[in-house]
Amino acid sequence: MAPWRSSRWFDRNDEVGFNHRAALRSEGFTPRSFQGRPVVGICNSWSELNNCNLHLRTVADAVKRGVWAAGGFPLEFMTISLAEELMMPTAMLYRNLMAMDVEEMIRAHPLDGVVLLCGCDKTTPAQLMGAASMDVPCIVVPGGPMLNGRWKTQPMGSGTDIWKTWDERRAGRVSDEKWEELEGSIHRSAGHCMTMGTASTMTSLAEALGMTLPGAASIPAVDSRRYANAESSGRRIVELIKENIRPSQVMTPLAFENAIRVLAALGGSTNAVIHLIAIAGRLGISLPLSKFDELVSNTPTITNVQPNGEFLMEEFYYAGGVPAVIKELLPLLHGNELTVSGTTHAENVKDVECFNTDVIRPRSRPVCPGGYLAALHGNLAPNGAVIKASAASPGLLRHTGRAVVFERYEEMLQQIDRPDLDVDESCVLVLKNGGPLGGPGMPEWGQIPIPAKLLKRGVRDMVRISDSRMSGTSYGTVVLHISPEAAAGGPLGVVKNGDSIRLDVEKRRLDLLVSDEELHNRLQSHRPQYKQFRRGYYSIFLERILQADRGCDFDFLVGEPGEVPYEPIVGRS
Ligand code: FES
Repeated sequence: MAPWRSSRWFDRNDEVGFNHRAALRSEGFTPRSFQGRPVVGICNSWSELNNCNLHLRTVADAVKRGVWAAGGFPLEFMTISLAEELMMPTAMLYRNLMAMDVEEMIRAHPLDGVVLLCGCDKTTPAQLMGAASMDVPCIVVPGGPMLNGRWKTQPMGSGTDIWKTWDERRAGRVSDEKWEELEGSIHRSAGHCMTMGTASTMTSLAEALGMTLPGAASIPAVDSRRYANAESSGRRIVELIKENIRPSQVMTPLAFENAIRVLAALGGSTNAVIHLIAIAGRLGISLPLSKFDELVSNTPTITNVQPNGEFLMEEFYYAGGVPAVIKELLPLLHGNELTVSGTTHAENVKDVECFNTDVIRPRSRPVCPGGYLAALHGNLAPNGAVIKASAASPGLLRHTGRAVVFERYEEMLQQIDRPDLDVDESCVLVLKNGGPLGGPGMPEWGQIPIPAKLLKRGVRDMVRISDSRMSGTSYGTVVLHISPEAAAGGPLGVVKNGDSIRLDVEKRRLDLLVSDEELHNRLQSHRPQYKQFRRGYYSIFLERILQADRGCDFDFLVGEPGEVPYEPIVGRS
């Protein structure tokens, strides 16, 4: 009997085993194709609704080549795919649904190991969460970033350059013609956003966690080496199954510390904080915000890629990619952590070189010496908040200003450009009800637009605070992920127009400047509200979602990885 999980399906000497084998033979396979071979699931987030992952069917073909060559039996399957650009109100609302899809598809099927094909922002954490919960051998094959955007001779970064151009357009400085041309110049191929936004951050962190082959994260989507990496990953998953190396042996508490340091070195997306907490939670590992603050504060940001820096992901790859970052960071990392390659990070980067020290800087010449991201607390954020300090205006990192409050996103959109809005550049813009419950799904509303009348006067940044998230490609003095959120009864919900708010990043504080008694009285009389949904996924979401400081996972999915303790029940039609 084969030692693998799939033997429970195929090695049964009864009518149930007969039906399982007959099902594969109906696809045209002979028993020699699958009997005695480990079965490799290729978990594909391809979808025509997701332009970032549009090439993943072709990547899957390359994975299959490797699996066959190594003596495995590949079976590709689809899950839902989460497209950042097309999903409303936000792809984040569905991250946990996709994670459940991945987990249950693996659980229900005769799979001994899985290759995870991801790319767009939420697809990588969702697959890692689901795979961590099942804890069968896995390897991640990212789809890679798209080609650099280019308008005429000018490189254009996903998100980052578009947000900047949008502000210029609102200030009346960008013509209709240029705006229309940009629409056709920004996304020039399949692949995910080519700034160090959430997608590039999360695939890089999959590599830092040890869940990809070395160098996999940043190979451009259209580069032939993307397919060579996929074939190698197909070969490697067969060995991983034979060696029985599971995600829980790779994604250890020390591996998460490595990932946090690499996040800091990349100057990566704030969204990664939520996703890392959620992935770790699936393995029973606690990652408090204080752990991020502790590790990030003494890790230099060495990656000079938008939105923190100048370059784009193609240049990052040509400079050496994540292996070059890990090599430079190695004295700060747990180099002996195992990766899915079967070797350690230290072994993997032994001969790695950096080919462009403008793009991946030495630690002695960082983009930011440490603390690119800070975890804040205070009476406005009892359970925490985050700010990407490296993307903020230095002069605003310590600031007290008058609150201009928007109760809801729609209200903010209606009012922000009104000429009579009572606001100046010293004010603090406050957006409530953008959190996990309030959104719902914690949309990327946190980079509140600068009011048009201030844009016209040349103002490009203000302090903005919310319980929402922002795109990994965004920038500005933006406090995010305030927890508990307004809709959950957090103090953000009782901020009033005209209140004073103090941000002090050095002291890691965010405070509403009212007395404790006043705050207590306001909270006592406050009745938070959020939209109710009585049916379907929304109702489960609102009932079981955790707050941002706990990764926005469902409470019933945290911890306890592995098989559920029952035999598969077989149904027949
Ligand atoms: Fe898919 Fe940016 S929209 S990664």
